[in-house]
Amino acid sequence: MNEYDSELVRTLLKREGYVFTEDRECADVILMNTCAIRENAHTKVYTHLSDLKVLKKSRPLVVGVLGCMAQNLKGELTRREPLVDVLAGPDAYRQLPILIRNAMRAQEDGEQSKGLAVDLSEYETYDDIIPERLAGVNAWIAVMRGCDNFCSFCVVPYTRGRERSRDPEGVLEEARQIAAQGFKQITLLGQNVNSYRSDDWDFARLMTAVADTPGIERVRFTSPHPKDFPDPLLEAVASHPRICKHIHLPLQSGNDRILAMMNRTYTRREYLGLVERIRSKNPDIVLTTDIIAGFCSETDDEFADTYRLLEEVRYHSAFIFLYSERTNTIAARKFHDDVPQQIKSQRVTSLVELQRRISAERNREYLGSTLPVLVEGNAKKSALQGMGKTDGNITVIWDKAAIPSQPGDLVACSIYDASASTLYANPDP
Ligand code: 5AD
Ligand code: SF4
Repeated sequence: MNEYDSELVRTLLKREGYVFTEDRECADVILMNTCAIRENAHTKVYTHLSDLKVLKKSRPLVVGVLGCMAQNLKGELTRREPLVDVLAGPDAYRQLPILIRNAMRAQEDGEQSKGLAVDLSEYETYDDIIPERLAGVNAWIAVMRGCDNFCSFCVVPYTRGRERSRDPEGVLEEARQIAAQGFKQITLLGQNVNSYRSDDWDFARLMTAVADTPGIERVRFTSPHPKDFPDPLLEAVASHPRICKHIHLPLQSGNDRILAMMNRTYTRREYLGLVERIRSKNPDIVLTTDIIAGFCSETDDEFADTYRLLEEVRYHSAFIFLYSERTNTIAARKFHDDVPQQIKSQRVTSLVELQRRISAERNREYLGSTLPVLVEGNAKKSALQGMGKTDGNITVIWDKAAIPSQPGDLVACSIYDASASTLYANPDP
């Protein structure tokens, strides 16, 4: 969502005549789009800010913090960081040109000014701004913003405000433009993407219409909540040839007491029932998840429930996070963050090890099969290797000499080796 929002901001500022540089040494304005979801994202912002201090000493420079940290930490950031001139929350990007202009003027006059725009809106969807995207294979479209779920650990409802959905016509027009620009894949985005609703359009209808856009090969979505998976959505995923057979299904915990404390609104049984429903419609679907280890008061036995659920479901991959308390959340107000750091880390490590083993086993199931792969570009480690994704979003690597391809091509790859994170391919014989 932050990548998408940065594209929105880029478009807004370009309209005002700003030009962009990759070289921060020659920038007059540096804006940092931030995330507040976990402690380490938060710490990174402070590290980057201290790097900028040196730059700012040597010349006039406007520094802005955008996004969730601006929203959440307005008091702290303005007090502790004299370096920050502009703060704009996720619903306030339209005000950026004015805030930047004011900050530049103040600097010219030798004054210190703080431009603050952090009001949340019930309506802002930036529907009229089609972001200018950097060329590539995938384009993001935010179809809804905000979250009304209030999971007790999560800061998002406070930093991004209430749920609101865009008009389907705006989304479909954006999809047509994306296809005309040559993108092959669209990822529909939202903090709670499958809660999308606009009059009689629900998420299944919207995603199917996007997938019917001529020129688009693949449609993905992230991140859904397990509470909103009606049958028509599962059927759309299972049957539409251009909707990817991958569902990211955040679990968070496999224990009912912890799930209730987290306010996730499902039990372990209900979650497993959903997994079964998904797999009965499409046995080959790739499932991935998010887990939080060491939530307030989680015992060894309760953690073991999560461990066993991972063994039972056998996700293709999982993001495993150590619980970090976020200011103002329900958990911060109501519960004690009382699981010792060392135990949290041990729990994360044991889940990561378990998941690595399962991911490797899952990936080995593809050995000998031929899969359509959407080419993204070069592999990270070598420009002699190509990299792309399967329909289930698993990374595939091959020697470019053996499979010549361009980003955006769909190539048939025959899988001859597999690790926990990667499939290795030869050309289809
Ligand atoms: N601590 C740890 N992980 C968190 N997440 C959200 N809030 C927290 C927190 N306070 C994780 C959840 C969510 C993912 C995007 O980030 O697993 O699904
Ligand atoms: Fe946060 Fe829960 Fe909303 Fe996801 S559904 S953004 S975890 S409050």
